[in-house]
Amino acid sequence: MPTEPTSLPVRTIGVLRSDFDQKFGTPRQAGLAPSARATLTLDPETARGLDGIETWSHLWLLFWFHLNRDAEVRWRVRPPRLGGNDKVGVFATRSPYRPTPIGLSAVQLEAVERHDDGCVTLVLRGADLVDGTPVVDIKPYLPYADAIPSARAQWSEAAPGHLVVRWSEGAFDKASALGIDALITEVIRQDPRPAYRKGNPDDRTYGARLRGHEVRWTMLTTDEAIVLTLEEPS
Ligand SMILES: C[S@@+](CC[C@H](N)C(=O)[O-])C[C@H]1O[C@@H](n2cnc3c(N)ncnc32)[C@H](O)[C@@H]1O
Repeated sequence: MPTEPTSLPVRTIGVLRSDFDQKFGTPRQAGLAPSARATLTLDPETARGLDGIETWSHLWLLFWFHLNRDAEVRWRVRPPRLGGNDKVGVFATRSPYRPTPIGLSAVQLEAVERHDDGCVTLVLRGADLVDGTPVVDIKPYLPYADAIPSARAQWSEAAPGHLVVRWSEGAFDKASALGIDALITEVIRQDPRPAYRKGNPDDRTYGARLRGHEVRWTMLTTDEAIVLTLEEPS
């Protein structure tokens, strides 16, 4: 006998600050942009729950997809890894559009900063969350239980292929002076464009705001992109 759907309270513990100002360009999974930096600062009361967190190199973040445009539940979705055409059930995907829009990402814990006012900041790498995402829980990543080498994943067995990323000279000089060249390369090489654009000629210019800087790129061929410009925040 199925149980009746019900609602339960969800408490947020903090808001994540990240390099990604909008959904476009935000990696489609954790770890795809290892240079991506994020911080999560917890208030003194909540931070009491972080005692001992330094023990762990990686953490699971559970968070709320707060930028989903509508509350409509999409029971069948089109994963980009299936080319954006074939539909599968939402529970067979990692789609953000879920009946309860909770996300799950394994991230690297780089540092723990304890502040004089009792707040604690976790410095994280590799997150796939947009800046401002509400976090609802943190759990340690347990390699013996969470890494399952024999696991099957059929249409998502390996990480997605990479584009070759080239740079216009001026853009590269700016990016390397700012220390964001690796981040930009990691974001563009995973090809954030919609699945239906891939493999087709494309002369559009794409843009994303990464660590506060506006980056623009276009495709040279179906598998090569070039970074055109990098603009300072105005
Ligand atoms: C496919 S989901 C995977 C997230 C998580 N690793 C998971 O499996 O639950 C990643 C995408 O969610 C979107 N996203 C990230 N943060 C979001 C937020 N706060 N609200 C809505 N969408 C978000 C971005 O477009 C990002 O590329």
